[in-house]
Amino acid sequence: MPPPPGRFITFEGIDGAGKSTHLPALAQRLGRDGAAVLQTREPGGTPLGEAVRDWVLHRPMDALTEALLVFAARREHLRGVIEPALSRGETVVCDRFTDASFAYQGAGRGLALDHLAALESWVQQGLQPDLTFWFDLDPAQAARRRAAARDADRFEREEVEFFERVRAGYAARAAAAPRRFVRIDSAVEPSSVAAQLESALQARGW
Ligand code: TYD
Repeated sequence: MPPPPGRFITFEGIDGAGKSTHLPALAQRLGRDGAAVLQTREPGGTPLGEAVRDWVLHRPMDALTEALLVFAARREHLRGVIEPALSRGETVVCDRFTDASFAYQGAGRGLALDHLAALESWVQQGLQPDLTFWFDLDPAQAARRRAAARDADRFEREEVEFFERVRAGYAARAAAAPRRFVRIDSAVEPSSVAAQLESALQARGW
């Protein structure tokens, strides 16, 4: 099957790296020329996905259960929202996607990467984002930023060592897909982060 005509862009990074600050502005920027832009998130993006998000973020569970739930929600999100939007030629901007499963459930929780890869191909059937912005920040600095934020969920309460592993998980995914990934240095001020995003879009002629 040919790839769908729309663009699929994902935002990734450890908690506190700052992606949520920049995602709405990027969505607006991509719609500047009148293009339809759909902004969504994972886990979430559908009624079922939002219910799963609530469970995964707040209820204690086994790591494999957690992975199966995020992939089940992803299937629903792809079928019900992402694929139809891409088929209509829309730009989809998604706050986290499968790289988060490899980073958090794989590298962070220690699940076997080949099991996650099997779920990935089963659920996505070859569909991958066209571009992934990886907001990269030192976990200690991210923890300081998170300390100022609202009530922590199950992931945000993890130790700095957990986020060291998650960061390494993202680095491995980025190394394996260098054309898809753009690493964003998130240690700098927001205007410099925005400039990095803009230059990645311009490099693609977007
Ligand atoms: P996040 O995207 O950081 O939202 P918020 O800014 O509201 O906290 O939170 C989602 C959490 O879900 C994040 O800690 C990572 C986790 N997650 C996984 O563990 N696996 C996944 O596959 C996805 C999509 C998210």
